[in-house]
Amino acid sequence: MLPASSKNLNRLPPYLFVRLNTLKEKARALGLKIVDLGMGNPDRSTPSHVVEELVRSVKEETWTHRYPQTKGLPELRCAISDWYRRRFSVTLDPETEVLPLVGSKEGLAHLMFAYLSSGDVALVPSPCYPVHCNGVLLAGAKAHWMPLREENRFIPDLNKIPQVVARKARVMILNYPNNPTGAVLEGLDFLKQAVQFVKKYRCFVLYDNAYSEIAFDGYQAPSFLQIPEARRFGVEFHSFSKTYSMAGWRVAWACGNAEIIGKLAKFKSFLDYGIPGFLQKAAAAALNASQDCVSQVTELYHRRRDVLCEVLRGIGWHVQKPKASMYVWARLPEKFRKMGSLTFSEKLILSTGVVVSPGVGFGPYGEGYVRFALVCEESDIREAVARIGRFLNTKTSHPVPKLVSA
Ligand SMILES: Cc1ncc(COP(=O)(O)O)c(C=O)c1O
Repeated sequence: MLPASSKNLNRLPPYLFVRLNTLKEKARALGLKIVDLGMGNPDRSTPSHVVEELVRSVKEETWTHRYPQTKGLPELRCAISDWYRRRFSVTLDPETEVLPLVGSKEGLAHLMFAYLSSGDVALVPSPCYPVHCNGVLLAGAKAHWMPLREENRFIPDLNKIPQVVARKARVMILNYPNNPTGAVLEGLDFLKQAVQFVKKYRCFVLYDNAYSEIAFDGYQAPSFLQIPEARRFGVEFHSFSKTYSMAGWRVAWACGNAEIIGKLAKFKSFLDYGIPGFLQKAAAAALNASQDCVSQVTELYHRRRDVLCEVLRGIGWHVQKPKASMYVWARLPEKFRKMGSLTFSEKLILSTGVVVSPGVGFGPYGEGYVRFALVCEESDIREAVARIGRFLNTKTSHPVPKLVSA
């Protein structure tokens, strides 16, 4: 018999999207055509000029076929710091304050390992992007939930964190525009408050800004690093995955406090060799070139958001339009709240083939909601909502409507 896996790994249930994939397979086996609004996996291809730079580099710069260095190519680090200056008027030292990552999921989890030991506490929003919590648990530390409540516009109330917890905390995780709620920060007041909090309790902010560029209706997401003093008390994560539809490429970065960046780089140097050079070259091209492709993809999510919210309203499911991100966070219709978001999502997939993410998969305070990811064409969104409408109106507990096979 094999030994059990580590205590820390055993603390985690199977990853949310792995579970949803299993259900999708079951639904397919039932002959249902899947419309997948579950995972935030961009459906558009990467802009052609970025792909062309990848191909050019991989063909012509054969040195990129060798091991890269964890700290990343200077070209990419400089492109990141130039982009930051243009976008947020924040100056970053590309040598010490910028670190490319093999996707921000990797960097987020490894930062927890670099800073947390058993018994430490991390302040984690709930609901949250699962790695914000799972990274903490894998590192053997404890997550103290900061509830994100609709009545507080999904912003945590820092005054509610007990002092004894705050004193043990090493990191506070924040993420706006938020996954899964789509909430945004209006103005910089909350970020200033967060800086004061971590300064007082000698911890730091991990600010996840993966959706900073996917914003609608004139909203402009701030950077945590725009707050005076922020750089002394935190780091910010960005990703190419959504902004440039590069989720499969695995390219992201962390930037901010040089000491924290240095520790993360040290941790990673024992584990990975960084991002392949040709991918870094192409990522630099994405940042340096015209940002029209970003406006186009934002416009696409904007239209899908409007269509989804409208058609949901048409079936009597009223939801808030998010000002940013690629998600719509929807409170379960009254008569389904008792069943819980997991059962609701399971039944929905197995009865209709429509995949949405159960709110509870993002943490206990996500219960009572489901998340729609805007990753399908408008026609599929309309089709999905039509099926949801039939599902909501069926009286039986497990309806299976007749649908065409995929
Ligand atoms: C808030 C948030 N942070 C980070 C990530 C991970 O992004 P990456 O593809 O860079 O690992 C995601 C992915 O959905 C996310 O929603």
